[in-house]
Order: sequence, then C-alpha cells, then structure tokens
Amino acid sequence: MTNNNFEQALSFDDVMLIPRLSKINTRSNVDLSTSIAGIKLKIPIIAANMSSVCEQQMAMTLGELGGLGIIHRMCDVKDQMSMVISASDKQLPDYSVGFSIGIGSDWCDRMDACKNHADIVCLDVAHAHHQRVLDLLKKYFEIYQNYPIIIGQVATINAVKDILNVIPEKYYSSIAFKTSIGGGSLCTTRIKTGFGIPTLQAVMNIRKEFPKISIIADGGIRESGDIVKSLALGANAVMLGNLLAGTEESPGGIIKGNDGKLLKIYRGSSSYGDKSLRGEEVKNIEGEEMLVSYKGSVIRVVNGLLDGIRSGFSYGGAINIKELQDNIEFIQITTAGIKESQPHGIFNL
Ligand code: XMP
Repeated sequence: MTNNNFEQALSFDDVMLIPRLSKINTRSNVDLSTSIAGIKLKIPIIAANMSSVCEQQMAMTLGELGGLGIIHRMCDVKDQMSMVISASDKQLPDYSVGFSIGIGSDWCDRMDACKNHADIVCLDVAHAHHQRVLDLLKKYFEIYQNYPIIIGQVATINAVKDILNVIPEKYYSSIAFKTSIGGGSLCTTRIKTGFGIPTLQAVMNIRKEFPKISIIADGGIRESGDIVKSLALGANAVMLGNLLAGTEESPGGIIKGNDGKLLKIYRGSSSYGDKSLRGEEVKNIEGEEMLVSYKGSVIRVVNGLLDGIRSGFSYGGAINIKELQDNIEFIQITTAGIKESQPHGIFNL
C-alpha cells in the first residue's frame, strides 16, 4: 500500500455554491459559450457517446442549439460514418459534430471514415489510465496531429499527467479530458470493482493541477444545479447521458408501460444489452439497461436546463463561465442540509 489517503471526496449533493452580489438584470444576457479542445460551443452541453443517447438526430439538434453530440461507436464503421455525414450536413456558424472511437483494432478505420465530416473525436475507454491508451495516443498524435480529441475516462491527476507525457505539448490545446469513473446514472463500476472518484471531486482535482486543460464533467449530472456546480468548480462543459436519454431525438422507439406511461430504453455502454446488441462477448458487465420516461423534444429539455443554468449564474453574479469560475466560493453541507435542499412538507396532487 503506497498511498493511504483518507481525504474526503465531494459529490454534487455535498456542495453548495455561495450566492454573491449580482448585477445581472436579464438572465438571457448570460453568455454560456465555452470551448473544449479548441472547439467553440455556444452552450456547454455535450450528448454522451452512447447507443441510446446520440445518433445523427441528437447530434444535429444539439449542434443547432450550440452544443455538441458525439455519435457512438456501437455499430460498424460504415453505419457510424453515414450517421456522421448526415449530422454534419449543416451550414451553421459554430455548429460541431463529434464521433467516438475505442481502443479496438478498428479505431484508425473509424478515424479515417469520420474525421473529415466531423470536428472532434472522443476516445471512449472506461479506464483511460491504461498502457493500451498511452500506446494508442502516441500513434494518434503521430498520424492525426492536432485533430481535436476528448480523452476519457480519467479521474486522477496521475492519469492526466501520464497521458500528457505521451503527447507533444504543441497539441495540448486540442485535447479535452472527460472525468469521473463510475459516476454515471447506470454505472455499476463502483459497486462491482470498488474503484471510482465522484465526478465533481475529479473535476476539482484535475482543474487545480492543470489550469489550462479542457475538462468535461461526465457522469451523475441530474439537474441544472449539478451543471452549474461542474462549471463553477472547473469544467468547460458537461456530458449528459440520462438527462438526454428518453427524448424524441435519442435513438430507439417509445415503449408504452403497463400504466400507460411512455418510456424509452437507456443502456449503459458496458451493459448486457449494449454488448449483446453489438455482438460482443457478454462479460465484464459494468452497466445497467433501464427504462426512462419519454421526455419529448430535446430542445425543450435543453432549454429547461439552460434556464436553470442562467439563473445559477445570476446567483453567482457572473455573466459568463470565466466570471463564475474566477469568483466562486463553495461550502460543504451536511446530510441535514441535503435534506433541506429537497422540496419538503408537500404532497403530490
Ligand atoms: P449519466 O449520469 O449522465 O452518465 O447517465 C453518462 C455517462 O456514464 C458513463 N457510462 C458508463 N459507465 N458503465 C459505466 O461504468 C456503463 O455501462 C456506462 N455507460 C455509460 C459514460 O461516461 C457516460 O457519458
């Protein structure tokens, strides 16, 4: 045992941002623009590269809203390329589309098929602090040089350090890290393996050590308040799975539940369902396959989140993400505080 570290790690619910003097008269003036790996976005929202979250329809709609959709890789190269091509067929300023690759032998084929039709790639690995990832990245930067890349998942300073060590410094501005291990709403990694770091803590630790690198908070974001906390404490953007699953634009049909409720399937990338759909050997299951409520159009969902985020910026007296990050103070609250934060003393009608 080399590092007996009993430091506490904070999750979204443990933290409250401290309100500040605000001079924001109109919340719509709050500027939520950001950039990750050199790609400019009008809003800091990225759709997760999951088979039940982001195909061309999600990528197009989110791109039009000023966010980013990462088209998943749970299909063959041709199908992924045709989704990327149809999503990229928009002539809009700051409209971006992403696609994902894994560490399997087809990663170069996916790059070559998709890169010219997209703006950014996402290396999608459950544990990116791995020798195979370091070897892949050495090759990646030799071949694709400054093509923007999101690297995930990482959750520690050492992971980021080791990864940066194999990348020429001139390419640092075209990299973003996707942080958290096991924080996703349908992840079972922490339960099955005992390993993980809460998303918010991972963002804070990595931001403190690497002030300039792009960070995406990914996993466990349930509300706009969690997005404001992520941005305030160092993220450039957030990646959403659950919040965007179940929308009209997410892949898959609507299912009618026994009680008439409309539902859609949300599948973990390491779930039994996802692995068997793509014909992989069904082992190392570290995710669930669940039903989520059908939510209607993602435009309505994202606009609702943006309302909450802008309101958060007003409480923080910040007109943009930089102001929020520069001035923010936060406290750790107790379980009594968490209870008080929830609506209470009320009943469903
Ligand atoms: P949310 O909380 O937004 O999280 O639903 C989405 C993120 O969860 C990760 N992900 C997984 N993690 N097993 C895991 O441990 C899985 O099967 C799985 N599928 C997705 C991923 O980072 C995603 O963006």
